[in-house]
Amino acid sequence: MYKELDAYWMPFTANRQFKKAPRMLARSAGMHYWDDKGRQILDAVAGLWCVNAGHARPRIVQAIQDQAAELDFAPSFQMAHPKAFELADRIAKLAPEGMNKVFFTNSGSEAVETALKMAIAYHRARGDGSRTRLIGRERGYHGVNFGGISVGGIVSNRKMFGTLLAGVDHIRHTHDPARNAFSVGQPAHGAEFAEDLERLVALHDASTIAAVIVEPVAGSTGVLIPPQGYLQRLREICDKHGILLIFDEVITGFGRTGQPFGAQTFGVTPDLMTVAKGITNGCVPMGAVIARDKIHDVFMTGPEHLIEFFHGYTYSAHPLACAAALGTLDTYAEEGLLTRAGDLGPYFAQAIHSLREEPNVIDVRNIGLVGGIELQPLPGQPTKRAFDVFLDCYDKGVMIRTTGDIIALSPPLIVEQSHIDHIVETIRQALRRAA
Ligand SMILES: Cc1ncc(COP(=O)(O)O)c(C=O)c1O
Repeated sequence: MYKELDAYWMPFTANRQFKKAPRMLARSAGMHYWDDKGRQILDAVAGLWCVNAGHARPRIVQAIQDQAAELDFAPSFQMAHPKAFELADRIAKLAPEGMNKVFFTNSGSEAVETALKMAIAYHRARGDGSRTRLIGRERGYHGVNFGGISVGGIVSNRKMFGTLLAGVDHIRHTHDPARNAFSVGQPAHGAEFAEDLERLVALHDASTIAAVIVEPVAGSTGVLIPPQGYLQRLREICDKHGILLIFDEVITGFGRTGQPFGAQTFGVTPDLMTVAKGITNGCVPMGAVIARDKIHDVFMTGPEHLIEFFHGYTYSAHPLACAAALGTLDTYAEEGLLTRAGDLGPYFAQAIHSLREEPNVIDVRNIGLVGGIELQPLPGQPTKRAFDVFLDCYDKGVMIRTTGDIIALSPPLIVEQSHIDHIVETIRQALRRAA
């Protein structure tokens, strides 16, 4: 093991705690990691919500190796390579009807920035340039760049990074444990929370609002499942006022909720959709914005030699990422993984809801192959109880994830019932020890 741990400043990590007791991963295959001591660890979180087809899948590995030898890099501005077009086409075919234009980025955060800029530029291109305001939602997570943390609703970003973007406001979150605790699937109560958008329209006027961005299922702030009818209502209000609806599908995209995208699971089509993570099975960084044709087409006017959308990344549609994504989509298709969460969802739900009676569990929530188990925080030490459970599970060979005092589960979509049983029993024992 490499012993010098000082130089690497780790992201979203308790650096000092980690460096005292490093959790070092050395190898991965299928549902498992192995650490640097050769210990096998069951992956209950698809790495970081991204390794949806499981680890080290042969088609993806081969595709990346072949691509590195054939075409390592192609400039992304005014030049291209064939796999970028093939991939865009394949993604468009998976996306909801009418969403056929794909703009590539390198991460979820960049996809969010791209979608926000697209929304503002779209209105401007239509001659409606006063629509610049962006609306997010409390407890939203949209990555870490300035646009994303501005529309996001996470207090730590406000404490640490100052005033953020101007012209942003937020609708209320949908979490309502008093009425919805221990809901199986979509909670029954809370469609009316979408009406909060009307409050902001009344405050700012629709003519100033470009877009609303929400995660269909909020993942990073604790697995918040949309109440029945909520997303439909949000769509209606956006339509009524000419506001674009952006779904941030960075975690819900590529099969997590039982359909290729959350939009399809919940039966609501947004105007723009951000994706990342599962697009390449986490193997090479990549993100994308999937746009309705009507959004794209508004840009396609003016002299043909001019750049229509003044935006892009050096590594947009990087050849290695495109190859990895094509290998990933092949794997998903061959194994039926994009709908497997729907088939396995009821078993997964029953398994995690069996934790309801364990010590300090105050809510369990689920959709597809996403689970949230919320714990009563230790008095005066928020997040510690869940973090202790995370460390305990890791020690026992199961990698879970915690956010605040919530355990978030999102196993690879190749997970079997026996893995689910093992994950749930390991958490059960850890919860008992943490009591
Ligand atoms: C909904 C959502 N949006 C955006 C992001 C940011 O993606 P990335 O970490 O690839 O920048 C995440 C990451 O977890 C996410 O869950």
